[in-house]
Amino acid sequence: MIIINTKAYRKGVGKDLEQLVKTCTEMVDPENLIFSVQPEDLLRLEETDVEVFAQHLDPVEPGSHTGSILGEGIVEAGASGTLLNHSENRLESEQIKASVEKAKELGLNTVVCAQSPEECREFKEFEPDYIAFEPPELIGGDTSVAEAEPEIIEEAVEASAPVPALTGAGIKTAEDVSKSLEHGCEGVLVASGVVKAEKPGEAVEELVKGL
Ligand code: G3P
Repeated sequence: MIIINTKAYRKGVGKDLEQLVKTCTEMVDPENLIFSVQPEDLLRLEETDVEVFAQHLDPVEPGSHTGSILGEGIVEAGASGTLLNHSENRLESEQIKASVEKAKELGLNTVVCAQSPEECREFKEFEPDYIAFEPPELIGGDTSVAEAEPEIIEEAVEASAPVPALTGAGIKTAEDVSKSLEHGCEGVLVASGVVKAEKPGEAVEELVKGL
């Protein structure tokens, strides 16, 4: 599994996002990819073959919650899951727990991000579908987690069990992907390696070779 988190990159939103998804799915089987996008872009991808996640969800019921990302709304807009507690949008533990519960009620898949094996151990108690271990200092950089922290990936995988683990940060090559899987992960999260690539189609084709 490769989750492409488009963050709020200019090339990862709006019409550019449509083009990005088109380019990537022309190069590889869409079955291998999940795009994690801004909620307002979910509907935009409705007619595509890719699975889409919302980058966040607030654990609120429909009602007076101005500015919140409503689970019911993202389901209706086509999301099949949500990414929670990304390093760039950290939540309190109680919010993570409530968001996972809310997502589950709605039948959404949940990926909870963790910055350390200790957090993996803490967040697995909330029973998300996946825990994504991402060392914050490597996010957006040139050295991948698979090169820099192979032992910690294994620790994170162990700490997350029985919840399956993913990893991310600096992933750009087929070797980064295959190493992550060798260390026990079920998949990877990638952002800049695809969204900021000069040729995103080729970037994604390279990553899929590592699966
Ligand atoms: O969610 C994935 C992300 O945080 C990793 O970012 O740019 O290092 O692939 P990047």
